[in-house]
Amino acid sequence: MREQARRLIIRPAEGSDEDAVRAFFGSLSMDSRWKRYHNATPRVMPWMVDAVVRPDHVTHESLIAIVDGRIVGIAEWGRISPDEPTVDMAIVVAEDCRRHGIARALIRRLAGGARARGIEEFSGSILSVNRASIALLRSVAPVMTTHLDGRTVEFSAPLSA
Ligand SMILES: CC(C)(COP(=O)(O)OP(=O)(O)OC[C@H]1O[C@@H](n2cnc3c(N)ncnc32)[C@H](O)[C@@H]1OP(=O)(O)O)[C@@H](O)C(=O)NCCC(=O)NCCS
Repeated sequence: MREQARRLIIRPAEGSDEDAVRAFFGSLSMDSRWKRYHNATPRVMPWMVDAVVRPDHVTHESLIAIVDGRIVGIAEWGRISPDEPTVDMAIVVAEDCRRHGIARALIRRLAGGARARGIEEFSGSILSVNRASIALLRSVAPVMTTHLDGRTVEFSAPLSA
């Protein structure tokens, strides 16, 4: 675990990462894609890849995590209008790389960049059966507020914390 953490690189995605990002999404199980997108995504859609490799950095941002040259995680935030202080955040990590702190590292970097742009809060929704994500958010955002809304948990976490 410690060795993997040392080899972890986190950086913005570029256009040249397009094939690798598509391959990463393609390698995920249906369950992981369901938990990430709350949607049946039997195949990788172009918009999923575009959002990661061509973010406008104003209404959408993304970061990729790389271990040994392979993409192992992607975190993104998005908002409808450029001046909204709250953005929706979502993340997914390769199944064979979980519990090595990759999501935590991605969220911290994503939050640092968002804060520097004046963004005040991450929000989002998690399937209420998705215990791993709820535990992850509680570990990185202790002052997070949650609200159970049917099959999802809506969360908001101030970046000042
Ligand atoms: C949720 C997810 C991103 C976590 O990624 P990860 O890299 O394994 O998470 P980390 O290793 O950084 O975990 C950080 C903390 O989160 C909590 N956590 C993560 N996975 C957990 C699990 N399966 N069970 C319980 N707690 C968990 C723990 O507190 C963990 O700290 P610890 O390992 O020191 O105990 C990953 O399971 C995933 O991609 N799931 C599918 C997609 C998804 O659910 N996305 C979120 C909705 S947008």
